[in-house]
Amino acid sequence: MIYLKTPEEIETMRIPAQLISQTLGELAKWIQPGVSTRKLDTIAREFILDNGGKPACLGYEGFPATLCIEVNETVVHGFPSDRILMDGDIVGIDTVVEKNGFMADMCYTFAVGTLSPEKEALCRTTKESLYIGIEAAKPGARIGDISNAVQTYCEKRNYSMVREMTGHGIGRRMHESPEVPNYGRRGIGPRLQNGMVICIEPMVNMGSRNIVIAPNGWECRTRDGKPSAHYEHTVAIVGDSTEVLTTFDYIQQAIPDKFI
Ligand code: MF3
Ligand code: CO
Repeated sequence: MIYLKTPEEIETMRIPAQLISQTLGELAKWIQPGVSTRKLDTIAREFILDNGGKPACLGYEGFPATLCIEVNETVVHGFPSDRILMDGDIVGIDTVVEKNGFMADMCYTFAVGTLSPEKEALCRTTKESLYIGIEAAKPGARIGDISNAVQTYCEKRNYSMVREMTGHGIGRRMHESPEVPNYGRRGIGPRLQNGMVICIEPMVNMGSRNIVIAPNGWECRTRDGKPSAHYEHTVAIVGDSTEVLTTFDYIQQAIPDKFI
């Protein structure tokens, strides 16, 4: 069942959305060759707690950290570790923040140092596809319209879409109905209507779409070991407009030269 939010609830959801956006903006300053992913996790946890939020991933179904860390071929749900980020890596940082009883979910794939043109193009296309998906998320449209828009945009550029993981509704819980797949047909699925809040999150592979899940049951990587990129916003349908509650503006302000 889809929980439609009242206008007041959507106003409240701006609070965690603001905090998660600022958290990724803070992390942006630290992402460079030589930093460990555990250090990033500590910075994020402290920043969220200092600002009255709760790191919602920490302890969620046993997830051990504040951040999901996605280096190169990791698609989603990687654990922070002693791994040191190196020049040329891409690192997706995906997290969920709870504040005032509601959640916001967001992901950004950062460049560590200088990227190969191929990795940079993958990130650029994936991020563009997120905005293409948001553009398709018009009140009255269907979830399949988002899925199809994202898929078509990426596959035209010879990338492949991860199918096992999807976007989702969000609210008082991290994952609510409906699912928001990154592939599919136009005109199918639930209709977008006033009060719906969804996370759109294309996960896009440079090689084949196949993935493998690590024995820990969380970490998901590409089967061919080629890179994968991931961007995500929390998006609300408010009356007859679509509002992106999260923002990459703080990231852009923090790293204007390295902003992909
Ligand atoms: N954006 C991720 C998702 O929707 C956040 C997962 S948090 C975790 O799956 F705790 F489940 F890892
Ligand atoms: Co999500």
